[in-house]
Amino acid sequence: MEEKKKILCVGLVCLDIINVVDKYPEEDTDSRCLSQRWQRGGNASNSCTVLSLLNAPCAFMGSLAAGPVADFILEDFQKFSIDVSLMSEHAQCTSPASVVISNVSTGSRTILHMNRDLPDVSVKDFSKVNLHQFKWIHWEGRNADEQVKMIQQVDVFNSKLPEHLKITISVEIEKTRESLYQLFPYGDVVFVSKDVARHFGFQSAEAALKGLHNRVKKGAVLICAWAEKGADALGPDGLLVHSDAFPPETLVDTLGAGDTFNAGVIYTLSNGGSLQDALSFGCRVAGRKCGFHGYDGIRE
Ligand code: ADP
Ligand code: FRU
Repeated sequence: MEEKKKILCVGLVCLDIINVVDKYPEEDTDSRCLSQRWQRGGNASNSCTVLSLLNAPCAFMGSLAAGPVADFILEDFQKFSIDVSLMSEHAQCTSPASVVISNVSTGSRTILHMNRDLPDVSVKDFSKVNLHQFKWIHWEGRNADEQVKMIQQVDVFNSKLPEHLKITISVEIEKTRESLYQLFPYGDVVFVSKDVARHFGFQSAEAALKGLHNRVKKGAVLICAWAEKGADALGPDGLLVHSDAFPPETLVDTLGAGDTFNAGVIYTLSNGGSLQDALSFGCRVAGRKCGFHGYDGIRE
């Protein structure tokens, strides 16, 4: 029997050192956190976690340096049955890590990144990938110049295939970095963050979609999540779709809410669901995630 085609997420994996507090610490004070844990993080890596919990076969492509952090991360990928055969290892570098302060009283998360010298996935790495195993490839916007070339390789691959075998391409433009904006016209599905929307001067998801729609290619879907306000999307027909958020009974941890939302949307669309269903499901799983530490609550 032919193996089920996978969803590939390309982007960051890092170590999150999560400090749970009930009061945000003041500078130059000495306080104790409620708990501390290590968790595999990074947007693309988190989306893989959620896809795997939703029982969607998935793969992660990113970089790691050798060492104890990489060992922890690789073991965790294995725990979630995420295919990491496309991972590249860079012996002389340092794996990225983040210190996260997760405030249980507000659900807020404050992230301090460290990424010193680890190179992102290059077009050279990507050109070795057997694309036949994937039905969807998602890029977390990072080294956009290279990522555009990777996407062009998929476009060439797709051009020789009938519609139903083509790989769907999604991109996430989350950081307010000029170089990432070149990704807008390259996704069939484009996720743009609230931060980027605000950076362009928009004060709501709806305004952002209307204002940024001319940047995506014809036929593409543009999606913008807006925390507790839910998410909006603009499809190829020009119709605006909205889902309210699904707030958990108690807001505990919003770390990775956006990555969870993206995974929920990709999961639904890749199974033939409508844009409305995808938005609602994305908000539902993201809301559920916010009620728990980590991703344990997603399966309920
Ligand atoms: P991030 O800051 O992690 O990128 P977003 O703010 O974009 O996340 O939110 C993504 C989705 O997560 C939202 O569309 C919403 O469905 C859900 N979400 C995030 N924060 C909350 C919250 N405080 N209450 C309920 N749902 C939330
Ligand atoms: C959450 C996250 C964390 C990581 C940081 C990297 O969206 O991926 O896991 O520390 O963002 O930007």
